[in-house]
Amino acid sequence: MKKCLICKNNFEPFISFGMMPIANGFLPSEKFDEEYFFELQAGFCSSCKTVQLVNQPKREMMFHDNYAFFSSTSKGMANHFRLLAENTMKKYLAQNDNNFVVEIGCNDGILLKHFAKAGINHIGVEPSLNVALEANKNGVNTISEFFDENVAKKIIDKYGNADLILAANVMCHIPYIHSVMAGIKKLLKPKGVFIFEDPYLGDIVEKTSYDQIYDEHVFYFSITSVNNLLKYYDLEIIDIFHQKVHGGSMRYLVSHKGKRNISDSVIKQIRKEEEIGLNLLQTYDNLRKRIEKSRDQLIKILKDINEKGKRVVGYAATSKSTTVINYCGINKNLLEYICDTTPIKQGLFTPGAHIPVKPYSEFLNNYPDYALLFAWNHFDEIWTKEHNYNKIGKWVLYVPEVKII
Ligand code: SAH
Ligand code: TMP
Ligand code: ZN
Repeated sequence: MKKCLICKNNFEPFISFGMMPIANGFLPSEKFDEEYFFELQAGFCSSCKTVQLVNQPKREMMFHDNYAFFSSTSKGMANHFRLLAENTMKKYLAQNDNNFVVEIGCNDGILLKHFAKAGINHIGVEPSLNVALEANKNGVNTISEFFDENVAKKIIDKYGNADLILAANVMCHIPYIHSVMAGIKKLLKPKGVFIFEDPYLGDIVEKTSYDQIYDEHVFYFSITSVNNLLKYYDLEIIDIFHQKVHGGSMRYLVSHKGKRNISDSVIKQIRKEEEIGLNLLQTYDNLRKRIEKSRDQLIKILKDINEKGKRVVGYAATSKSTTVINYCGINKNLLEYICDTTPIKQGLFTPGAHIPVKPYSEFLNNYPDYALLFAWNHFDEIWTKEHNYNKIGKWVLYVPEVKII
């Protein structure tokens, strides 16, 4: 029995993935003995309809001055955020120079740099110092803190209220969400807009993309659950836009209640969520059964490949891969190494299973027979990039189902 982080009612987990390390905790061999583990479990609160983690490691264990995820490593994401910046500037910022934009979790400045380049007053709040420094290099002003109500007050005192608040793939990371929402409520100007996006629960259920479930993601939002959260603050969703990124995300446009028109798409999507059963516990019991089946099929494929004496390597040491590797029991005997383009991951080992992470050049210089695609959410980008490999090698995929192509 656990208390819901949103509505404080009790809920039970619907799945346990067993003991898990920190998803982005890539480590050198000297640190294997000190590795931290916790039980990764997810549950559904029937009262406010929020899917959430049961336990989450302390925030400083995940977000620190050596955070391994740099947003700008993906060209697709860079393009996605450029378009968001361009559209938002046109639609929501007045044609004067008094605009003020705040981004929560700006990482290396992938989104906010476009506002900075346009000469707009802005501040990015980013607790992981190494990525915040990268944002500074990109011309973005940052403060290296965890956003909450107190930080919001400090921003208001120093810079005033915000016309626009942005938050991509970060609201779902923050268990003290009530303090964050209280801060946003105070910080947002009366006619201001708060835009955030996160992986969408509807996609996770539809695609059985259980690898979205890892330590950093404490919430798996739907329109219904976000609405229930916003009600505490007299805020409301005025529009939504489904996004392809991160395997299916939802962008929520939020304003103070009654200040802007609500689009029909919000009402339609709430109905759709009811139809597909996102508000029913049974849906999550069924999801667990599909996850277990996916795990068994993936392990079988890897064992078969190995028995045939063929080589298989992992493609991209994503945060999501930590759940798959450790839950399915993938080890060094089944997967030779994982290649990744992020310099700070290379030469280290994956969390938990301790599979070596090697530079992308290893893959290019000696193609394997099979590549297990952990960055399946970047499929289009990678498929295009790997046209030479595609002629001779095969891909193992596990979302939306386990298959070889
Ligand atoms: N917005 C980027 C980064 C997402 S990763 C993108 O979409 O690619 C999540 C980021 O949120 C990390 O950089 C992490 O350091 C940051 N973060 C975690 N907790 C936070 C908090 N309370 N306030 C602000 N940022 C936070
Ligand atoms: P993400 O799935 O959380 O965005 O993580 C992306 C990770 O995948 C990051 O470590 C970089 C890596 N990656 C590659 O190694 N090659 C690629 O072509 C892409 C798109 C990502
Ligand atoms: Zn609840």
